[in-house]
Amino acid sequence: MSNPNPTFLIEIENLNFAYGSRPVLSGINMRFGLGQVVAVMGTSGSGKTTILRLIGGQIRPQAGAVRVSGQSVHELDKGGLYALRRKMGMLFQFGALFTDLSVFDNVAFPLREHTDLPEPLIRDLVLMKLQAVGLRGAQALRPAEISGGMARRVALARTIALDPQILMYDEPFAGLDPISLGVTANLIKRLNDALGATSILVTHEVQQSFAIADYVYFIAAGKVAAQGTPEDLMSSTDPFVRQFIDAAPDGPVGFQYPASPYASDLGLRS
Ligand SMILES: Nc1ncnc2c1ncn2[C@@H]1O[C@H](COP(=O)(O)OP(=O)(O)OP(=O)(O)O)[C@@H](O)[C@H]1O
Ligand SMILES: [Mg+2]
Repeated sequence: MSNPNPTFLIEIENLNFAYGSRPVLSGINMRFGLGQVVAVMGTSGSGKTTILRLIGGQIRPQAGAVRVSGQSVHELDKGGLYALRRKMGMLFQFGALFTDLSVFDNVAFPLREHTDLPEPLIRDLVLMKLQAVGLRGAQALRPAEISGGMARRVALARTIALDPQILMYDEPFAGLDPISLGVTANLIKRLNDALGATSILVTHEVQQSFAIADYVYFIAAGKVAAQGTPEDLMSSTDPFVRQFIDAAPDGPVGFQYPASPYASDLGLRS
């Protein structure tokens, strides 16, 4: 069961972020405990991927901070940032495999890039990671020869190649069949426990993420709209949480990207 008093490996404090003049996140506070799987949910465009990019130090907040092990990410120098990223594994939302490399070489890539390990050891590590995702038998195949779900698992093996302490998954369930969905969710949980890592799971998938998450944040319009354990949220009466969990089309969450009035866009006079 989840630890009620975790040590927080990652803390986001009073963070504001805008792309140019377009505010995306405002006054965000979040904490990610050591050993936990934390789900970050919210509608499309709410800022979830942006949060992952802030944690990885790819972009800088205009106010507030992301702290990893107490260190403010945006204050790290190049060397510090490199060391931090070495501890992180990221499964990108549209992450692609190298199409001209075999499954084996895709997983070996970060090991060859970031370590001086001898090739026999790299081989053992790659096979161990492929075994963990159930694809040791597919090591010689190229990405074009495997299914989309298998490709996702290879990407997962590549993500964990360096035994990261922080694992970030951006929509790992997109496009998977119901069985692969369950397999992937279990895998994320097992890998987190085996590595003693902190996993951040960005997803729309309520059922799978609630099954494995210790804690859940709901993001809406750039703010934390709700948070709690899956049990808390399942019994929540908050209209936003209910709309999301019950997948209701009507509720506080709107469908439209902010736009000028439709009539004026069409050149009609109101
Ligand atoms: N590089 C960028 N430049 C300008 N605006 C951006 C950029 N990336 C994202 N945005 C905007 O920031 C907002 C948040 O984007 P983000 O990708 O974080 O959303 P998301 O919650 O991950 O959505 P989805 O579920 O669709 O992946 C969106 O309104 C998007 O249009
Ligand atoms: Mg996204």
